[in-house]
Amino acid sequence: MCGITGYIGEKAATDILVDGLKRLEYRGYDSCGVAGITPKHGLYLKRVSGRVDALDAIIAKDPLRKGVIGIGHTRWATHGVPSEDNAHPHTDCDNQVVIVHNGIIENYLEIKEKLLKTGHKFKSETDTEIVVHLIEEKIKSLNKTGKSGDGDLLEPVFFEAVRRAIEELRGSFAMTILWAKCPNMLLAARQHSPLVIGLGDGENFIASDVSAFLKHTKKAVFLNDGEMAVVKKDSVKYFNFKGNKVEHASVTIQWDSTMAEKGGYKHFMLKEIHEQPESVENTLRGRLLPLKGDILQQEINLPSELIRNIKGVQIIACGTAYHAGMVGRYVFENFGLPASVDFASEFSDRAKIINKDIFIIAVSQSGETADTLYAVREAKASGAKVLAITNTLGSTLTREADFVLYTHCGPEIGVASTKAFIGQMAAMYVLAIHFAVIRGNIFDADARKYVNELLKIPRLIEATLANEGVISDVADHFAKSEHFLFIARHINFPIALEGALKIKEISYVHAEGYAAGEMKHGPIAIIYKGMPVLAIATTSKMLSLVANNIEEAKARGAEVIAIVDEDSREFIKAPRYIVVPRTLEILSPLLTVIPLQLFAYFIALAKKCDIDKPRNLAKSVTVR
Ligand code: G6P
Repeated sequence: MCGITGYIGEKAATDILVDGLKRLEYRGYDSCGVAGITPKHGLYLKRVSGRVDALDAIIAKDPLRKGVIGIGHTRWATHGVPSEDNAHPHTDCDNQVVIVHNGIIENYLEIKEKLLKTGHKFKSETDTEIVVHLIEEKIKSLNKTGKSGDGDLLEPVFFEAVRRAIEELRGSFAMTILWAKCPNMLLAARQHSPLVIGLGDGENFIASDVSAFLKHTKKAVFLNDGEMAVVKKDSVKYFNFKGNKVEHASVTIQWDSTMAEKGGYKHFMLKEIHEQPESVENTLRGRLLPLKGDILQQEINLPSELIRNIKGVQIIACGTAYHAGMVGRYVFENFGLPASVDFASEFSDRAKIINKDIFIIAVSQSGETADTLYAVREAKASGAKVLAITNTLGSTLTREADFVLYTHCGPEIGVASTKAFIGQMAAMYVLAIHFAVIRGNIFDADARKYVNELLKIPRLIEATLANEGVISDVADHFAKSEHFLFIARHINFPIALEGALKIKEISYVHAEGYAAGEMKHGPIAIIYKGMPVLAIATTSKMLSLVANNIEEAKARGAEVIAIVDEDSREFIKAPRYIVVPRTLEILSPLLTVIPLQLFAYFIALAKKCDIDKPRNLAKSVTVR
């Protein structure tokens, strides 16, 4: 789970590569590097243990800046500690072939052993380095006179060497390779790890995701597993790993590059929290017909027969997406369809009880989470159909799933997910209402009621966001607390978990989310005088029970911060309130999550944490 960039054209490659890496840092940021060919110095490489800003600073006046071809990488360590030696790009023995790689080569030790015997010298502990030595080996055997000749004449040798090396690799990889002797081309290859080509005018780009090159072009081709690309400045050709040509049509990415920038906010996370009215609108757009109370299904193309025949829904996801899945479970069940939800990483064993009667919904912002992809494969092998709820066009999940429902939230850069989460929840409501209508589980009039209320949610989120000042004050008051507790019942229980997760992710402080009714069965023992307890207490059929749980916590000295609506407030006695607008109980998570996201943000801000790039985390986790 690293970020890759590649460029070939007429502009200063390093500037473009480094800028692209900055946009890909959410994929990992413990070391980084760039390599290119300069007219004077030949193959040239710079790496740092640390972030892209540090790399940018050390190469400010570097000759590297002059080249028009290059590759770059930002790393999240899997094999080998984060260090300069282990940073990509990696080179062969003669410093002629250079590679950047994302993924894991499973048989690297086996290959390394063979290469060591033939005299290769390794400079890092990474699995990646074996690939570049293997390519070197293949070049040698293809071209005994490898030292003579240059440029175009050697291009078929380069291609064939990389292709043959790939044939020996097991595992996952997205890689980009440069050979000093072929200064007019880059090679890219993909197997179980994302890679996309950006098509420019007299220049082309390679990246782990489009945000790295959107500023330069919106035309993109997503490589499939088992494919390579020969990327030159005026052309890109695609091949499968057998060396046969394959055709690709490009797609036009609708995202604007400024959508991926901070737009005046201090952090991407804050910007993304504020984009949530739009995120919900974008997820709902075109899918809900307010007057008919019906849901359009053209985009996802789910056959009504399938919806009628299934006996239950199984949701699989990781992290924040899992919490959206939990909300989804309550919603489906509310409309009479049995549903369960599992962490993708825990699903494998349970996959055995899956069959074609169970409909799988895989939720993933990135569409690249390895645990989720693996779980999807297991479920498919058991005969189930899979629908992906994702934010990422062309992601691996979209190709593996049978159906896709895009959340259309735009790029989410902050590692801690916010707007993608709200989009995932909105998608769950769309699906659950749609299923209920098709299965005849709700009357049209009821469906209309839900749809009409859902369509009001973006405005209600705006009203909730207007409370930012109050939330910031409350957060400042508790910024020094070492423990936080979040409690809620029923459909807001996942939101309590999400509130706690947000604090852990970006403030590194201990926080727990708990089902309010479970408190008395153990966790209440951890409450001490002055402990902040955030309780979701909006209007619901459970309100009086939540009120009791709040009293129990207060009686043990907790400082309760109650998330209430205008109507529930009078039933709750708490020293502090955060008020959200009233909506239907079932839709309330779309509003109650907002103050919890902001609360976590302001706690992290007060603690001066690196909010958009929290330690130890990566936005897209492509290892299991
Ligand atoms: C990582 C991120 C989380 C995210 C999870 C699932 O752990 O740090 O924020 O929720 O992956 O990601 P996905 O892309 O599958 O939604």
